[in-house]
Amino acid sequence: MNNFTFYSPTYFVFGKNTENQAGHYVKRFGGSKVLIHFGGGSVVRSGLLDRVKASLEKENIKYVELGGVQPNPRSGLVYKGIDLCKQEGVDFILAVGGGSAIDSAKAIAAGVKYDGDFWDFYEGKVIEDALPVGTVLTIAAAGSEGSGDSVITKEEGMLKRGASGEAIRPKFSILNPELTQTLPAYQTAAGATDIMAHVLERYFTNTQEVEVTDRLCEAILLTMVKEVPRVIADPNNYDARANIMWAGMVAHNNLVGVGREQDWASHNIEHELSALYDVAHGAGLAVIFPAWMTYVYKHDVNRFAQIAVRVWGCQMNFANPEVTALEGIERFKQFLTSIGMPINFKELGAKEEDIPVMVEKLGLGTEGTLGSFLPLKSKDVEQIYRLAL
Ligand code: NZQ
Ligand code: ZN
Repeated sequence: MNNFTFYSPTYFVFGKNTENQAGHYVKRFGGSKVLIHFGGGSVVRSGLLDRVKASLEKENIKYVELGGVQPNPRSGLVYKGIDLCKQEGVDFILAVGGGSAIDSAKAIAAGVKYDGDFWDFYEGKVIEDALPVGTVLTIAAAGSEGSGDSVITKEEGMLKRGASGEAIRPKFSILNPELTQTLPAYQTAAGATDIMAHVLERYFTNTQEVEVTDRLCEAILLTMVKEVPRVIADPNNYDARANIMWAGMVAHNNLVGVGREQDWASHNIEHELSALYDVAHGAGLAVIFPAWMTYVYKHDVNRFAQIAVRVWGCQMNFANPEVTALEGIERFKQFLTSIGMPINFKELGAKEEDIPVMVEKLGLGTEGTLGSFLPLKSKDVEQIYRLAL
């Protein structure tokens, strides 16, 4: 196991009706004038926004609102949010929605405290100062409620890039699984795929002797394999929704990734798909992850056979572990299909002729590499896109 530090100071408030405590927690973390930031309207239609506002009013906290965050959130609204916060003297940002609203809120929070262009953070500058951010989560997926990351798409050139920093980790996150019951099945499944992908990016590692994090990763994956079909069959299954919602947080606050090298090639390869076609990030991952696995499994057949046995219930073929490894990848694909996810370009609506564009936009050139399990060059990434056709 590698050396590591782990500090994850978000205060989590989990369970039914917890959104009514939003005002209490904003106050507790020092907010007196809030920007409520949300998406395209689901929180208005469900009545959640009104409940959150009532909770702020109960604590005499003033607020301004900025809705309209699109899935794969755009830089344009971030600039608007930064200006609004400066004009209004906002001292706390409350995201009400999914990963997109949260990531946009984090970008605004960092931008308000920075004299330059906030996009600098998405080109590698670490975020060291930001307004405090709180969240009321409505979809189990990105894990942004517990992460120090934000992903934004710059309209010019449709570049989708991530930024990080402890300063943008939410001060508190309110997780009421009931709020996720209004999600369409496709969004539920895309979110679930993202959660599993966050575990898999950590699972495929070259670091040896990481039994505890291996087993935690497998526990989350097994939970998803059990619970996702239950919520697809019955969207109002609170207990299954609750397990998935907590799995989504644990999958990405790095509890299961400490002390080990992590990969993240599939996420970067996917980001070009969601930037170009504006598809759900989780659906893009359903297409890319199995293709990445097929391309790299020979690098460590035993690790692929291990997950096949421990998560996908395959019988170990001791004479030929490669058979087991490939069976595991096949079962993963079958699972994704069974929950309604696309597993190739055709099903996703992506086009073969755009592959060179996506490879180019990844910006690896001839020498750069992506991922650490098996570092990939541009030509490898192109092969992975082709395996996903
Ligand atoms: O915009 P509204 O109207 O709210 O509708 C949303 C949106 O259309 C809808 N939705 C959310 N909660 C709902 C609901 N509809 C009905 N009932 C509810 N309870 O679902 C759609 C998707 O929402 P979005 O916020 O985009 O989903 P998600 O949480 O999957 O976030 C995706 C974004 O997160 C980024 C992705 O790249 C993508 O841009 N990621 C962020 C990460 C992070 N910050 O740590 C890590 C991830 O790997 C990921 O890259
Ligand atoms: Zn993700």
